[in-house]
Amino acid sequence: MRSFLSLASFFAAGALASHLGSTSEDWRDYTWSYYPENTADELKELGLPLPEIAAPITTVHEHENYVVKLECLGCPFRVREYGQVVEHWQENPQDNSLLFNFSIAEDKRSLLVNGKQIYPLVLPANIYSYQVPANLSADIMRKMVDMRMMDKSWNVGTQYGSFEISFEQTTMMTNERLVQLLQFDITHAEIRWIQNPGVALLNQPKQKLIQLKLSQENMREGLKIKSIELVEQGEKITHAKMPCGKEAPRFTQVFRATEWDYYGHIGTLAWTWKKATGEATDWLFDHTYLLFALVFVLVFLRRRIQQRREAKRAIEDPEAGLLIIEDDEEAAPEHVQDEQQVEPELEKLVAEEKISDEAAPVNGDVDVVEEKKEEEAELTVSDESKPSLLD
Ligand SMILES: *[C@@H]1O[C@H](CO)[C@@H](O)[C@H](O)[C@H]1NC(C)=O
Ligand SMILES: *[C@@H]1O[C@H](CO)[C@@H](O)[C@H](O)[C@H]1NC(C)=O
Repeated sequence: MRSFLSLASFFAAGALASHLGSTSEDWRDYTWSYYPENTADELKELGLPLPEIAAPITTVHEHENYVVKLECLGCPFRVREYGQVVEHWQENPQDNSLLFNFSIAEDKRSLLVNGKQIYPLVLPANIYSYQVPANLSADIMRKMVDMRMMDKSWNVGTQYGSFEISFEQTTMMTNERLVQLLQFDITHAEIRWIQNPGVALLNQPKQKLIQLKLSQENMREGLKIKSIELVEQGEKITHAKMPCGKEAPRFTQVFRATEWDYYGHIGTLAWTWKKATGEATDWLFDHTYLLFALVFVLVFLRRRIQQRREAKRAIEDPEAGLLIIEDDEEAAPEHVQDEQQVEPELEKLVAEEKISDEAAPVNGDVDVVEEKKEEEAELTVSDESKPSLLD
């Protein structure tokens, strides 16, 4: 549940958060993120020109960071109005797009999308993507980039609803030395956990995917984005020859967000185990006093069982019993009440046995005594072979 709570943040979250973002702590700098843009009609009435529309790909830092506005064909549109706690789905949804921030990680060894590593892929890659109108203006896009709306430091609730992304990713060698092709194809955009759940399949023939070329010429320079483009299914590169002339192998990996939860990949053995232990620990944390009680009971039971065993052993093997009783004399004050009632009887029993033992030689039959001693030796041996059970 924990991580999903953060999803519930709404416009108010900005005002409540002690920290708004990495670029400004003045709430007025964020108004663009929760007031909708003027429509074409409004602008006409105001006598203002139509704004320039944001490009599908915005270069933030060449070779390192690009923001992609990917049109999501046929996707429903989440409407989040300022001051309204309950959002709704737009009837006749307007054309809309999803935002993806492709960046090379600081260590220059991996590629991130909205902060999650996708190359080399690390699962689960729970990527959340903002939905924006397809005709988002270039001005607002600039603000999103400059104020780092897709960064984890961003804490302001916005008018833009976010979707959880599932994807299929293909990597392939190319005929260029040390250049890999990466196709990042979004398959689902969905929301769970809130009042309007829904899923959109990005499977229309004209739906575009993101195709990148990644290069790593040397360790010092690290990974670089050589190119990034949006292509339709029919236009994507499906096979390539490696520099040696052989057909390049392709690797496809699929990540389906709903197949994963807090405990991992649902249905796997590891998931079952983590869920069971996780839930048990959660429960115990909520019932800490029970944990203490349980530990207390276990310690108590263990002691009792041990005492019973020792007592039993004492009956079977009086000499060993004697040793135990001597050992236990120091610990005696700790003994539980009813255990003390057992002990005098034991002592009596052992004492009686001792008397009959001592009486034996007086009766003069030495052979019998020796035989008895041998028997005892055997008994001790067989006793020693049991320690694992006794412990
Ligand atoms: C953007 O698209 C919406 C929905 O189609 C439309 O109402 C609005 O006028 C458009 N805005 C501009 C500036 O063209
Ligand atoms: C894109 O991601 C990188 C790495 O997480 C981050 O430093 C940058 O601020 C993000 N850009 C935006 C526009 O959020």
